[in-house]
Amino acid sequence: MLKVEEQPPVEFSSALLKKFDEVKGRYPAGKEKSALLPLLHLVQAEYLWISTQAMDKVAEYLEILPIEVYEVATFYSMYFLEPKGKYAMEVCRTGPCCLVGAEKILTHLEEKLGVKEGEVTADGLFSFRGVECLAACGYGPVLQISPDYTFYENLTPESVDKLIEELKKQDLRN
Ligand code: FES
Repeated sequence: MLKVEEQPPVEFSSALLKKFDEVKGRYPAGKEKSALLPLLHLVQAEYLWISTQAMDKVAEYLEILPIEVYEVATFYSMYFLEPKGKYAMEVCRTGPCCLVGAEKILTHLEEKLGVKEGEVTADGLFSFRGVECLAACGYGPVLQISPDYTFYENLTPESVDKLIEELKKQDLRN
């Protein structure tokens, strides 16, 4: 995990703060802390991940303690607390998916992308990690890709290669 002193400084843009205000405004006075989850999603959409410094800024914005943000952000695996690729692949590594080859998919991703689990490719496009059950157990091996959580099922090394090539092409179009 990146040490706090190694993390880039964070200064929220006025556009992001405007979105914060809009989200916070949905909650009654005194209950603004309820905006924490959507605010963290906004931060992640902006920076791709949520650093400790960003969590501290969110705490400051909501006028709550930093620990109140840390305990939420570390609980939900949908929040990335380490830098991730633009396309972050999450492969289910729970029992039923392992029985049909999830570990082979993880090994294949490592070889294909040339990075280890949790690392980001040099072009910033890809990262991958194993996660617990993605609730598609009958269609394993399964992966989802953030930020939009698209599912890909019945994976094989060949279908993973095809997916990576498609994402590269998609990136060039955008
Ligand atoms: Fe893989 Fe449930 S075990 S999706």
